[in-house]
Amino acid sequence: MAYPKVTVVGAGFVGAGVAQRLLEKNLANVVLIDVVEGMPQGKALDMMESAPIEGFRTTITGTNSYDDTKNSDLIVITAGLARKPGMSRDDLQAKNAEIVGGIVSEVAPRSPQAILIIVTNPLDVMTYLAFKKSGFSHKRVIGMAGVLDSARYAYFIACELQADPAHIEAIVLGGHGDLMVPVPQHSKVRGKSITELISKERIEAINQRARDGGIEIVNLLKTGSAYYAPSSSVVAMAEAILRDTGRLLPCCVYLTEEYGIKDMYCGVPAKLGRNGVREVVELALSEEEKSALKRSAEHVREFVVKLKM
Ligand code: NAI
Ligand code: 2OP
Repeated sequence: MAYPKVTVVGAGFVGAGVAQRLLEKNLANVVLIDVVEGMPQGKALDMMESAPIEGFRTTITGTNSYDDTKNSDLIVITAGLARKPGMSRDDLQAKNAEIVGGIVSEVAPRSPQAILIIVTNPLDVMTYLAFKKSGFSHKRVIGMAGVLDSARYAYFIACELQADPAHIEAIVLGGHGDLMVPVPQHSKVRGKSITELISKERIEAINQRARDGGIEIVNLLKTGSAYYAPSSSVVAMAEAILRDTGRLLPCCVYLTEEYGIKDMYCGVPAKLGRNGVREVVELALSEEEKSALKRSAEHVREFVVKLKM
């Protein structure tokens, strides 16, 4: 069977996790690339040695050469610095902009038809940078954050109600930062809004835990940030794209007036398929939620301006 080709740039915790999940789901043949010599090759060989046990038929190649990434269908960029305790995602901007900019100028000309999924933080700013540097249509440059933030929110709701996480649909909009916007009215347990099931005070506490979801893990790990749920989130997006399912997922996408936000990347629900973003879906929001979303997008814009692009 001919599998799609996915390049994962950055073979660290998130990148290696993405590669492993892509293989084990038989979603794609993977090229794993990193600046560290031998490391992506070693991780790729180790993963291939699990094929007889796991039974996947897809393959992975580890490399330090961008020529091996040619004609990828999808490129996931996870390369860059991760947060340490005391750092915000925005603190990573200068160094990671240099890294992501350099990577995009290597991968985009070699895979001119690819979809790009950006993971590196600060997420919304790096996605904007990748859009500008690649010259690709904005529909083919998408950031991963909303799937992760919404999954965390869903898990915290499940804990609160002692419910099965599989029965929760939760949604967090906005930039991947302290101003992200959990939306309780559209977050449901077996179709029933959590506003009917949980008190206002407890919802506010859960909302805050979702906003602090990333730093909660950083403070526990002390040497880096989360990677199990992040890699899972990337692969949910990759699956929708590679299998052209049109699945509705909260993603960082370029807005052209949706939600009253123009020419900026921000997290909103979007249908994903083989050509990237099929459609941005506009949820009915309260005035308070709309202003919170705009505030979050304006915060992203302030940091985008610093890129001087
Ligand atoms: P990590 O430190 O484990 O891996 C980063 C990898 O990038 C390293 O292997 C490093 O050698 C590589 N790298 C650095 N410069 C490179 C270059 N120029 N070309 C190729 N590879 C290069 O970090 P981890 O945990 O994998 O996180 C990666 C990034 O993803 C961080 O910026 C982190 O903040 C972000 N992140 C974003 C999430 C989101 O929701 N958007 C969730 C989790 C992490
Ligand atoms: C997170 O939210 C580090 O942004 C990453 O875990």
